[in-house]
Amino acid sequence: MKRIVKGAVLTVLLCIGLSACGEKVKVKAPTNLPTEEKSEAEKGYDINPEGLLTSLQNHTNLVPIGDVPIPPDNPMKPEVLELGQMLFFDPRLSGNNEVSCQTCHDPNMGYGDNQPTFNKFTGGTGARNSPTVINSGYYTSNFWDGRAVSLEEQALGPIQNPDEMNQPLDELIKELSAIKGYQERFQAVFPDGITEQNIAKSLAAFQRQIVVKDTPYDRFLKGDTQALTKQEVNGLRLFTGKAFCVTCHNGPNLSDNNFYNIGLNTEDKGRQAVTGQEGDLGRIRTPGLYGITHTAPYMRDGSLATLEEVIDYYDRGGDSHPNKSFFIQKFMSPIGLTDEEKADLLAFLKTLGGEPPIFTKPQLP
Ligand code: HEC
Ligand code: HEC
Repeated sequence: MKRIVKGAVLTVLLCIGLSACGEKVKVKAPTNLPTEEKSEAEKGYDINPEGLLTSLQNHTNLVPIGDVPIPPDNPMKPEVLELGQMLFFDPRLSGNNEVSCQTCHDPNMGYGDNQPTFNKFTGGTGARNSPTVINSGYYTSNFWDGRAVSLEEQALGPIQNPDEMNQPLDELIKELSAIKGYQERFQAVFPDGITEQNIAKSLAAFQRQIVVKDTPYDRFLKGDTQALTKQEVNGLRLFTGKAFCVTCHNGPNLSDNNFYNIGLNTEDKGRQAVTGQEGDLGRIRTPGLYGITHTAPYMRDGSLATLEEVIDYYDRGGDSHPNKSFFIQKFMSPIGLTDEEKADLLAFLKTLGGEPPIFTKPQLP
């Protein structure tokens, strides 16, 4: 009873807090989850998994991930997927014919590059971390700051970006048109042949296959309470309760597709560069967490090397960026996790890692 009352008070606080800072968070606060101190009976470290499952199904916005959404105008035709795979691995898409999408999104590095920030075309390193493309088809916007509305729109960005592939699109179309194999393959699937849009569609469709789903966490949510170990169940309970992760990491891909500033001290303007709004300074789209064990280092500046560091970062309430999201300031500064709780949360995050499909470089035309 005492706990339910505490839960209700917390929910009211959550609502006030979130509307006060204008962040549209649709997730229902996990009201009567057992998030507070463990009762005497629970101190044996166990929690009734059936009880947790019922609470999650009724009170949070957590659902098994399901299939990646496919836009009606870009169906997953096998010929398009093959073409996309060729383009993804083909360095001729870059200005010096040396850089491909794979350079920064390597299948053997979790489809990122496992370094803090990317290597620039002209030497030196760029401002942002190469994010994984795993499950990037589930987002409602792409890039750390969400400036592209789809993978189709995203794909043409890195090709032209002078720091990444440095290739003007008109030159790329000329170059690809001179390759007979590409000409034939494009003609076979797209009536208008080699165009910017068709290059983008092929790359986007190919990337929609790079998915981690059906993890033990998904099987748990579908009702198999044995799919997670006791420690992982305890971690899930923290994720949805005391540690507040579910506030932003929720929905089918564990991203609410909203933008927040979790406090990292960087010059990066984040979402503000897209909207021009002062309140968006340093805000970043919530990343999904599937495949997370393969994609270190973490955050848009690659500043946290391990998942342990990520948990410690949140536990201490994060850094002190002046525009840090109100929610984190109010409820997570600090969280106050014990070492055992940190280990539980880590064990849960690891269940989301899965095994992404490894695509290899095909023979290029
Ligand atoms: C030189 C490194 C580099 C190359 C080459 C590169 N990318 Fe990226 N990619 C990045 C970086 C860095 C970002 C994040 C940029 C940002 O958010 O401003 C990114 C973002 C993305 C995203 C967004 C993921 C998300 O979470 O929304 C996708 C998808 C992607 N790249 C696919 C591609 C494709 C397809 C190609 C080849 C046409 C490519 N990239 C080439 C470094 C690279
Ligand atoms: C207020 C919303 C919010 C809350 C609460 C939150 N996150 Fe995040 N999370 C984000 C955002 C936004 C980022 C990206 C930040 C950046 O790069 O600047 C992020 C990044 C991450 C990353 C790195 C992802 C990557 O690909 O680099 C992990 C892992 C993560 N969060 C786990 C957690 C855990 C565990 C919790 C609970 C302790 C949590 N988050 C709570 C919004 C949130």
